[in-house]
Amino acid sequence: MAKYPKFLIEHFQNPKNVGEISNPDGVGIVGNASCGDIMQLFIKVNGNRISEAMFKTFGCGAAIATSSILTEKIKGCTIEEAVKISERISEEVLSQVPKEKIACFNLATDALKLAVEEIRCKRVEIPQREGFDSLKKRERKKG
Ligand code: FES
Repeated sequence: MAKYPKFLIEHFQNPKNVGEISNPDGVGIVGNASCGDIMQLFIKVNGNRISEAMFKTFGCGAAIATSSILTEKIKGCTIEEAVKISERISEEVLSQVPKEKIACFNLATDALKLAVEEIRCKRVEIPQREGFDSLKKRERKKG
């Protein structure tokens, strides 16, 4: 069995924020192509701050541990801060885990990006399927 850092094992054994938020402002749903597991991450914002963050997954312990850590750390942050925190957690975690589990650890951070994208798209009334590229084009036109 691969050796995992203690903080990951603790979050796997006692995960925080498992479940679903009713009427979330953003939802990110991603799948791990290598195993077929699914991750759903829900966020609710109050203004620009994340007031709630929860997740549901069929994923393995690695996916559960990262989701637990991420949802704990982003509560109370702005959505911009949450994306940065997510990148930092990703770097920290991925440097300490077996490379064959990287896709599992990335599920939570990828789901967060999609949840944030949904919030940003709703705010500027862009249909979500147009995504970030359309958002960037609109911001360039404004500037
Ligand atoms: S094995 Fe499927 S998420 Fe890890």
